[in-house]
Amino acid sequence: MSKNPSLVSQINKNRIPEHIAIIMDGNGRWAKRKGHLRIFGHQHGVGAVRQVLEAGVEVGVKYLTLYAFSTENWNRPIIEVNALMELLVDTIEKEIPTFMENGVRLKVIGNQEQLPEKCRNQLAEAMEITANNDTLTLILALSYSGRWDIMEAVKKIAVQVKEGILSPEEITEKHMDLGLDTAEYPNPDLLIRTSGEMRISNFLLWEIAYSEIYFTPVLWPDFTKDDFYRAIIDFQGRERRFGKTSEQIA
Ligand code: FPP
Repeated sequence: MSKNPSLVSQINKNRIPEHIAIIMDGNGRWAKRKGHLRIFGHQHGVGAVRQVLEAGVEVGVKYLTLYAFSTENWNRPIIEVNALMELLVDTIEKEIPTFMENGVRLKVIGNQEQLPEKCRNQLAEAMEITANNDTLTLILALSYSGRWDIMEAVKKIAVQVKEGILSPEEITEKHMDLGLDTAEYPNPDLLIRTSGEMRISNFLLWEIAYSEIYFTPVLWPDFTKDDFYRAIIDFQGRERRFGKTSEQIA
């Protein structure tokens, strides 16, 4: 339950964003402020993941994409990378019963080939077990970057052109949409970034063309259901014009 029931009641249940994407930032700073190692922040970040997942199910969000590990994160100290991979494996294993109880289907985007075998196996198992759940799809972006995904989509198109299946003049946005790891999901309606940083950091570059963006200074481990509801309420107060005028969409 929300600590602030009036916040949930402010949400218009008929205009829930279908897809929310989150850049979960600030774990390291949160830990440092408390005099701990960065991994302590990541461990507490799992609690915030649970909060947004529960809140998403409660209000009827259909897709939730979490930026859990970027292509660039491989450059972090090996001790942090290993600890993060282990945390992911442990968390996914532990959370499978909760996913089943709440109808959560797990999916992954990103270069899975780069992930440790144990992590790949755990993800494959969790995706198989949860494959028929249809309340909410949780998409973890792992070893993911928007530019990497765009490059992969371009390569697929180039192969089709080379094989004579497609001519350059026939290429449309749809070909790009279908070549991306996110092909089967709608574009995010709302993108949230925590920790006060105002960057996109190579996340879903193609897909967020018309997403509403919400920045909050809250560090990820402190992010609660109420913060999630605040982002949805803010989103609902905006006018999405998709390049048109206000009059055209009225
Ligand atoms: C960014 O904070 C956070 C990450 C790179 C990792 C996020 C991972 C988790 C919250 C665990 C996820 C678990 C599951 C199951 C999805 P940062 O380290 O960049 O923080 P800083 O900017 O303060 O240094």
